[in-house]
Amino acid sequence: MASDQAPDSKQHKPATVCVHGGYRATAENPAVVAPIVSSTTFLLDDEAYARMLSGRADEALIYTRIKNPSLDVVQDRIARLEGAERALVFASGMAAIHAAVMSCVKHGSVIVAPREIYGSAWDLFANLLKPLGIETRFVDMSNAGELERAIVDSRPAVVYAESISNPTLTVCDLRVVARHARAAKAALIVDATFATPILQRPLALGADLVLHSATKYMGGHSDLIGGVVAGSNARMQSVYRWMQLAGGCMDPHAAFLLDRGLKTLPLRMRAHIENAAALAEHLSRHPRVKSVLYPGLAAHRSHEIGRELLSGFGGMLSFVVAGGDAAALRCIRALELALEASSLGGVETLVSLPFNTSHARLSPAERQAAGIADGFVRVSVGIEDARDLIEDFDRALERSATA
Ligand SMILES: Cc1ncc(COP(=O)(O)O)c(C=O)c1O
Repeated sequence: MASDQAPDSKQHKPATVCVHGGYRATAENPAVVAPIVSSTTFLLDDEAYARMLSGRADEALIYTRIKNPSLDVVQDRIARLEGAERALVFASGMAAIHAAVMSCVKHGSVIVAPREIYGSAWDLFANLLKPLGIETRFVDMSNAGELERAIVDSRPAVVYAESISNPTLTVCDLRVVARHARAAKAALIVDATFATPILQRPLALGADLVLHSATKYMGGHSDLIGGVVAGSNARMQSVYRWMQLAGGCMDPHAAFLLDRGLKTLPLRMRAHIENAAALAEHLSRHPRVKSVLYPGLAAHRSHEIGRELLSGFGGMLSFVVAGGDAAALRCIRALELALEASSLGGVETLVSLPFNTSHARLSPAERQAAGIADGFVRVSVGIEDARDLIEDFDRALERSATA
């Protein structure tokens, strides 16, 4: 398609790249919106054969798992947003994590990763990669001493970090993590799903690869599953091999939805942040709320790092309901607007409880140690009117008092 005709984004701001990056209508190709190319296969010509023979099949239009115009459009736009030489889209965030990590490890490699990591990433590292001879050391990434000791002791191939942790919303000091990773010659891979490229560009902070679950804010409408990895051409060549041969490429229809979602990402992030800040402020004064975790609140442990490393505090918040998990369950069941569902980053407000979802396998004492108090609620704040959301939570908190 017309990705090579897209305006040079060097002088363009992210909101402009989100709308125009990766595609531009032309006289030969006049559709203003990039079309969905759902064909799995393409006419072969001498140029395609020549590229295949010279090991550059990824540059030729041959087969959708190798290359597809609809994928090229979003990949180009995301690379521009991330300040990366190359981006690839995947069938899911987990497929992106898999390809990014596998591109940097081999038998005998060590990964250093945060203890407070997305649950399925933990499961992949701890349970699927370990029997293949790839060990993971889980550490408290906000403890620079513990991180440094783990890196010095284990000489990892990969340091894996998350920009903002789930569900305590700790902001990772990527400058410190990048310094330690670089000293050990480890590849730094950053999952920036909660931050999005609008709030942070981890490659500029020293990451080698940045990845996202595009299912969340990048897609933004809870209607597609996808993932993204971006980085230098040299690093991405191996990520591409894992994508192509493990097969986790994105479907062109999902790429079309992602393309559409990306156009409004900056607007949506602004609305998510405004609403999360308003709800966090309100809840922090509510008599039935014991505490609120939102990096935008001055009392949050990551407030200062967040100010330095993010251009906004994001749309996720957590709070603790007085009366414990039973009261928290009554509260979220009494909500009339916000929906009791997992996932995050969509236009609608979603709530979930770690005790019966992400942290169900932990004992109450282990949850406590992980910073998940009895009565903990996670909120992905949507883009509804903040006044309606506040009313909804007020009403539900009122009802949570009575068993
Ligand atoms: C931070 C983070 N990374 C990765 C993933 C995995 O993404 P997906 O569900 O698209 O595979 C998730 C999913 O919730 C997530 O929250």
